[in-house]
Amino acid sequence: VTPAAPVGLSLRDTVRAADAGSAEALLHATGFFREEEVAIGRELIDETVARGAATGYSFLFADRADGSLAGYACYGPVPLTESSWDLYWIAVDPAEQGRGIGRWLLEECERRIAAAGGDQVWVDTSGRDQYAPTRGFYQSAGYTVAARLADFYAPGDAKVMFVRRLVPDGRIPREG
Ligand SMILES: CC(C)(COP(=O)(O)OP(=O)(O)OC[C@H]1O[C@@H](n2cnc3c(N)ncnc32)[C@H](O)[C@@H]1OP(=O)(O)O)[C@@H](O)C(=O)NCCC(=O)NCCS
Repeated sequence: VTPAAPVGLSLRDTVRAADAGSAEALLHATGFFREEEVAIGRELIDETVARGAATGYSFLFADRADGSLAGYACYGPVPLTESSWDLYWIAVDPAEQGRGIGRWLLEECERRIAAAGGDQVWVDTSGRDQYAPTRGFYQSAGYTVAARLADFYAPGDAKVMFVRRLVPDGRIPREG
């Protein structure tokens, strides 16, 4: 069952050329992504517009009634694994963080991953203090820290790898 949408938002999984600019602006506005990361986030959309599903990237966009973007997520199967999937990006407009949009997008990604036969969702994040709310977000959604790679991104900036195991039939038990 698709989780209920936050008021005023609708979910879209088709990628449009205009999403590249909207996503770039949104990633930039969060203040969480370096310029190179923003550029890569944009490129993934441009590439998906050009090549379609062959890229291996799937997107979920949370659209406002006026068509503007409140948040989005990008995910896909991890190449050369049997059933591991990566959540590559998730971002919510800072003006609307904390009202359940991120959780809604994440749960819908998980539902679709499970329906496609995925049984683990992996997500990398940073160990920096700025990312404490992000880590709290994943933890509250049932993710656990699988590994912490010290100094991975830069001296003092660890990579923290979270994982959530999904049950095979697509039902995703969650406490609370
Ligand atoms: C991380 C992010 C996607 C979460 O989206 P969001 O819409 O703000 O989160 P939600 O409102 O859906 O929060 C869901 C749950 O996460 C937890 N959570 C959210 N913000 C939190 C915070 N600042 N501290 C601790 N837990 C937090 C809460 O438990 C919340 O549940 P609750 O509503 O019952 O309290 C969003 O804040 C964001 O875009 N952050 C900047 C970019 C980023 O860090 N992206 C991930 C890169 S790896």
